[in-house]
Amino acid sequence: MITKHKLITERLFGDNYQLIDGTDDIFELDLALWEYESLSKKELVDRSAYFKLVEGKETNHYKTCNLQNLEEVHKNSSFRTKIFFLDGKYSTGYATHSLFPYRGKFHPQLIRALLNILEVKPGNTVLDPMAGSSTVAVEANLLGIDSISVDLSPFCGLMGRVKTFSLDLDFKVLEYIVRDPKEILEKLKKEKVPEYFKNNKDDKKRNYYEIVLLAFLDTMGFASRSSSSIDKLFPRVLERYISTMKYFQEARQKLDLKIGKSKIIEGSVLNLPVEENSIDAIITSPPYSFAIDYLKNDQPQLEYLGYNLETLREEMIGLQGRGVDNKLEMYFDKMNTALKEMKRVSKKNAPIVIIIGTNDIQTNGVILETKIVELAEKQGLKFELDLIKPIRGLQNTMKNESILFFTKLK
Ligand SMILES: C[S@@+](CC[C@H](N)C(=O)[O-])C[C@H]1O[C@@H](n2cnc3c(N)ncnc32)[C@H](O)[C@@H]1O
Repeated sequence: MITKHKLITERLFGDNYQLIDGTDDIFELDLALWEYESLSKKELVDRSAYFKLVEGKETNHYKTCNLQNLEEVHKNSSFRTKIFFLDGKYSTGYATHSLFPYRGKFHPQLIRALLNILEVKPGNTVLDPMAGSSTVAVEANLLGIDSISVDLSPFCGLMGRVKTFSLDLDFKVLEYIVRDPKEILEKLKKEKVPEYFKNNKDDKKRNYYEIVLLAFLDTMGFASRSSSSIDKLFPRVLERYISTMKYFQEARQKLDLKIGKSKIIEGSVLNLPVEENSIDAIITSPPYSFAIDYLKNDQPQLEYLGYNLETLREEMIGLQGRGVDNKLEMYFDKMNTALKEMKRVSKKNAPIVIIIGTNDIQTNGVILETKIVELAEKQGLKFELDLIKPIRGLQNTMKNESILFFTKLK
């Protein structure tokens, strides 16, 4: 009796296709199916996000993740951290995504699938105008696509530069720069090294030093949450960064991955420093109303880098107003300008994907995604689809996120 039944994946793709481990949700099955429908067989092997085997052949994504040797990278991490990254081996923890655990970061695998479904190809430019840790840029660059990341926070700028630069670096130079972690730590603690960055904007080694700086800022956060000191933790964090880059570089060379170009801009979505009609696709996620204070979250890092939080606060979406109604009004006012700017910089027929979720207890029942669709349509963007993504493992009242697809028709 059982023999007359077939697995869903077998029905959809045939028996010599397999989805990657951990592809469990319905929305992921949707994305896998749309990848299958959008890409040729060769492209499925080279670029797909959710396939492990295509006509019996292992995909590049599957191979890259396995070549990254996460057991070795996390040999000194705590048990919890190690399990977290191993669990996310194919979804969150690969390439350079794990370098700084940014709160509210995209699932990289989802972004890869979106780029495929939107048919963004090498030679195109994708923009994330509220880029956070530049997950979109890393995924685009991994597929040979050029990217522009814009974020108001200079700390996000730093994360974006490190995560994209280290996809394509000279590992020997990095090894030379980090040869004495103790000496580096003393400098970072005493000599106000950020001065170096202000004064040496064109130094070729700057990108390599920024890797060390990010590892130090990561350690600062880590130390404030644990009982260990910065002195003890820094060599471990730096070693993790270096081995992450080493194994990724080895994988990249083995698989001959061509890395796209990345441009990181510290600027505002409300006044995008990007040319009109120049962008092939936008994928972005704005602050979910006032659910997270991104400046407060990154306060130690921003202060260490010498930035004034109050000046940034005025322009930051979701951080103005008093009381829920006034806060929401100001939020939607800024989101309206953001949508207008996204439309202005996009080419005709370019797709715009916005990922957002509502904690409706916080917003007194106002559903952000409904209002965003309304504002976008008023700006003349065509609303295509709302793909619902459940949120797992978060003990709060936000159950789902919406992946909203729009097109700029003219
Ligand atoms: C949900 S997070 C984005 C996270 C990102 N998707 C990632 O994968 O790391 C929203 C981002 O919007 C940024 N942001 C808020 N107001 C902004 C503005 N006016 N211009 C540009 N970025 C802004 C915040 O700094 C924050 O990094």
